[in-house]
Amino acid sequence: MDNKKLIFSGIQPTGTFTLGNYIGAVRNWSPLQQEYNCVYCVVDMHAITVRQDPTKLRKNSLDAYALLMACGIDPQKSILFIQSHVRTHAELSWLLSCSTQFGELSRMTQFKDKSQKHADDVNAGLFTYPVLMAADILAYNADLVPVGVDQKQHLELARNIAQRFNQRYGDLFTVPEPYIPKVGAKVMSLQEPSKKMSKSDENPNACILILDDKDTIIRKFKRAVTDSDSEVCFRDGKDGINNLMTIYSSVTDKSFDDITAEFSGKGYGDFKIAVGEAVADHLAPIRSEFTKLSQDKAFLKQCYCDGAEKALKYSQRIVSKAFHKVGFVDKF
Ligand code: TRP
Repeated sequence: MDNKKLIFSGIQPTGTFTLGNYIGAVRNWSPLQQEYNCVYCVVDMHAITVRQDPTKLRKNSLDAYALLMACGIDPQKSILFIQSHVRTHAELSWLLSCSTQFGELSRMTQFKDKSQKHADDVNAGLFTYPVLMAADILAYNADLVPVGVDQKQHLELARNIAQRFNQRYGDLFTVPEPYIPKVGAKVMSLQEPSKKMSKSDENPNACILILDDKDTIIRKFKRAVTDSDSEVCFRDGKDGINNLMTIYSSVTDKSFDDITAEFSGKGYGDFKIAVGEAVADHLAPIRSEFTKLSQDKAFLKQCYCDGAEKALKYSQRIVSKAFHKVGFVDKF
């Protein structure tokens, strides 16, 4: 390949994404394709660390794949694939697990959180989840990994594992850096704007799904929690309005000052409807592209099979060097 830097990121197949996943992450992945070599992966192997319905998981993985394409990730430009299709991830994960300490994994806050949440199923996969994630990244010698704050500790561990392996066996892995996108805002819950927007929120009005239809989107924004003031401006203490302004700004490219001017003298009601409409209009082409792709199963299959083949070819070079370095007998 050329000397562009390589970006790797993975996304869990949890059905559809939220507006938060979209604005904060996935939306920024498409423009990166110009500047970097990009590898994007639907991480179905990570998904089974918590109980999944097999039929749903299969559907969710395909939907996530189609949705990434609908969001502008072009499988011709990037390597876009499904994790379980590429065996090097599991293979490297085993090697790396032998360079990872029990103590390190015990300190992962996501493991602690999830083992409390799923107390009846604290399986070994949940424990070694971060090692598989390190394998995802290191198998491609990724330079940069776009991650949110909740994954920073895992990325830090991946860096430590890479450094340790390199020290013990001689340089092989690139030590990955976090990639903080230039744009990309954090989207908060529409009902409790001090909390992150999340699909697992019990109140369905708290969260916009990117495949929601226009009426649903507008209805949810109409119900968004704001404050007792009436001025549309970005200010400390106005979490609800700040969040709506952030969302509006990121789908329209308008500045906060322009937004304040646009709604001066108007009420919150008008503003909420405007945000709802802007979001719905922005998401409409994604939704229709997703529907089109989902209907063309053969095309989708061709894309993810090609993606898996490219991913295997690329990662195999690096993983077979790792096999050699730890002392496995060479096959060729
Ligand atoms: N753990 C990540 C998450 O839940 C998903 C993921 C798996 C990932 N492998 C990755 C992200 C490699 C970045 C790089 O969001």
